[in-house]
Amino acid sequence: MRIFLRLLLATACLPAAAQTKTAAQRADSVLKLMTLAEKVGQLHQLSSDFATGPIQPQGDRQAAIRRGELGSMLNLMGAARTRQLQEIAMQSRLKIPLLFGQDVLHGYRTTFPIPLAEAASWDLPAIEQSARIAATEAAAAGIHWTFAPMVDISRDPRWGRVMEGAGEDSYLGSLIAAARVRGFQGRGFGHTDAVLACAKHFAAYGAAIGGRDYNSVDMSPRMLWETYLPPFKAALDAGAATFMNSFNDLNGIPATGSAWLQQDILKKQWGFKGFVVSDWGSLSEMINHGYSRDLRQASEQAILAGNDMDMESSGYAQHLAALVQAGRVPISRVDDAVRRILIKKFELGLFDDPFRFSNEQREKDYYNHAGHQAAARSIAAKSIVLLKNDTVSGRPVLPLQRQQRIALIGPLVKSQKDNLGFWSFDFEDDSSRLVSLYQGMHARVGAAQLRYAKGCELTGTDTSGFAEAVAAAVDADVVVMQVGEGRDWSGEAKSKADIKLPAVQAALIKAIFRTGRPVVLLISAGRPLIFHEVASEVPAIAYTWWLGMQAGHAMADVLFGDYNPAGKLPMSFPRTEGQIPIYYNHYNTGRPAQNDDQRFYVSAYNDLPNSPQYPFGYGLSYSRFVYGQPIASVLQPKGATTITLSVPVSNQSGTAGEEVVQLYIRDLVGSVVRPVKELKGFQKLMLQPGETKAVQFRIGTADLRFYNAQLQHVWEPGEFDLMVGPNSRDVQTVRINWQR
Ligand code: GLC
Repeated sequence: MRIFLRLLLATACLPAAAQTKTAAQRADSVLKLMTLAEKVGQLHQLSSDFATGPIQPQGDRQAAIRRGELGSMLNLMGAARTRQLQEIAMQSRLKIPLLFGQDVLHGYRTTFPIPLAEAASWDLPAIEQSARIAATEAAAAGIHWTFAPMVDISRDPRWGRVMEGAGEDSYLGSLIAAARVRGFQGRGFGHTDAVLACAKHFAAYGAAIGGRDYNSVDMSPRMLWETYLPPFKAALDAGAATFMNSFNDLNGIPATGSAWLQQDILKKQWGFKGFVVSDWGSLSEMINHGYSRDLRQASEQAILAGNDMDMESSGYAQHLAALVQAGRVPISRVDDAVRRILIKKFELGLFDDPFRFSNEQREKDYYNHAGHQAAARSIAAKSIVLLKNDTVSGRPVLPLQRQQRIALIGPLVKSQKDNLGFWSFDFEDDSSRLVSLYQGMHARVGAAQLRYAKGCELTGTDTSGFAEAVAAAVDADVVVMQVGEGRDWSGEAKSKADIKLPAVQAALIKAIFRTGRPVVLLISAGRPLIFHEVASEVPAIAYTWWLGMQAGHAMADVLFGDYNPAGKLPMSFPRTEGQIPIYYNHYNTGRPAQNDDQRFYVSAYNDLPNSPQYPFGYGLSYSRFVYGQPIASVLQPKGATTITLSVPVSNQSGTAGEEVVQLYIRDLVGSVVRPVKELKGFQKLMLQPGETKAVQFRIGTADLRFYNAQLQHVWEPGEFDLMVGPNSRDVQTVRINWQR
């Protein structure tokens, strides 16, 4: 019998070139050989060397691997370490290779800007390249699978995980989701630089009530289809190999136990052929939700709902075999889940060579890759959003002048790790590779022109450093301050009710402002912060997010104009927490406020302007872009035709620069109320000094579609406003009437 098994397995594992069997056929041939315990093992995933969630006792992992009862692991680093565990898997009866997963969201060895920062670049090729480099480096370290892209739409900066996504807009978020999946999966599985992508967290995790992580989500199916599902569909259409479900209950059903999400929508309606993994412990957390009596029931509910792999709950490991033997779970469902996972392992080539990713030489090749670091610097500069740049003494404060004496002040100026942000990795020689603002500026102008004072800590009440900071400011022509959040102030389980810039930092800014020196404020954070106290005072502000390991060079590139900033906000910035949720594509209501001052019987707060501090899509440049009158090719189109909206955009400055020209559409009357505007296109273009370009957008009925009350994706004839401009607020409008 054993000879037969080996022979059968050998044919199943012959190099693909030696046989014409597909991954599915090869998976089937292995499936036939598996015991129930081995099948369950493929659905069981445990964390290895460090935790990214609550830690549970999990027993002897290596023994489980040796028995063929643990099919995947996460959170282990390096070619040597992954090889070591894979060698144990090769001692199992069927030698089914382990699948190694990791949260590689914005770089592995080369840390890129956080995803929300990259979204601010609106530069899809750069975003794709960032994911491509992350995958290349992670794969060289033995990682087969990244738990990214996170594609959760969120309109609530109290939720710390906004830093992982692409902001509030479904159109932009969908394009970025697809770009990231393409980047991670590259030329396709089988190449040793292509890793499985994982669209997460399915679904609507970003709408947690109150912005409180893991909290409930309750929304209409129409809102789900209109806003929260499209980025997942975009990821799937781009070929995402896996999905991860989410911690939240959605309309009363925890996502991990939702057959509607995982079977009806994902696997049946969308035809998803990959596999679904639960989020860390989310299967067992259905007990806390009050949806499952115990882990046995939670396991039954999850597998029947379409959750294929169980991360860290050990529910399947403990109960699935018994559930099958008791007739509670059909073996066909278990086989389907196992098959989905085996197919990916075959596609990755792991059966042909289980060690093909764990290559220490390739890992070394990417250890300090100059090209990767240059790419990180480039997209970091593109991610910076210039929010304000007033004129002081006859000239804009930015860009800085070469000969100016510059005081660098603030708690983040010399910090290296804080620029890496959440979901980043530490390596032993990091300090020589990470570039703080101080180091970036020093490399640019040398020490003689620089003054430095920390001024204060990130938080607390100690102002004893203010005097030194004031002295440094007085001894300079211009002050550059870097303030904001510490490395892990945003991220998972980092929801905050108060997202103001810490008081001690605001006090330091005011103290420096009172010296009369022009102040440039760089705000580094993982989320939109509230800083209206200082926003009106300082003449120049740039949002510098968490820009990764090349942060200092990127900030210097923008400060000196080596890179003319072109970033645009992917989220609305609230004036206060009380305004949240605030987002640009809201409904008009029956009593819309016509301006920021209108209060009388309109939908407005009585204690602050209705508009955000900064609107979605907002960002300035050192150039001066002027928009001409937009013209529609047809004002009364009929039926399924396409029209063109054309708008001349001029650079009326002496500085070449990029502009993100944005197209918004409003459906004025619908069978359900429609947003006051929705992003439906954008073009990022370079304009030389004095250059004018006619920017053209092609618009078809597909751009007019929405989900009606019956959840049909339709367009309805009538009047539409076509709007173009540099952001979601400052637009010019052409009204058309589109009939069937
Ligand atoms: C975490 C996160 C998820 C991550 C997973 C593995 O709890 O919610 O995004 O991929 O666990 O680290």
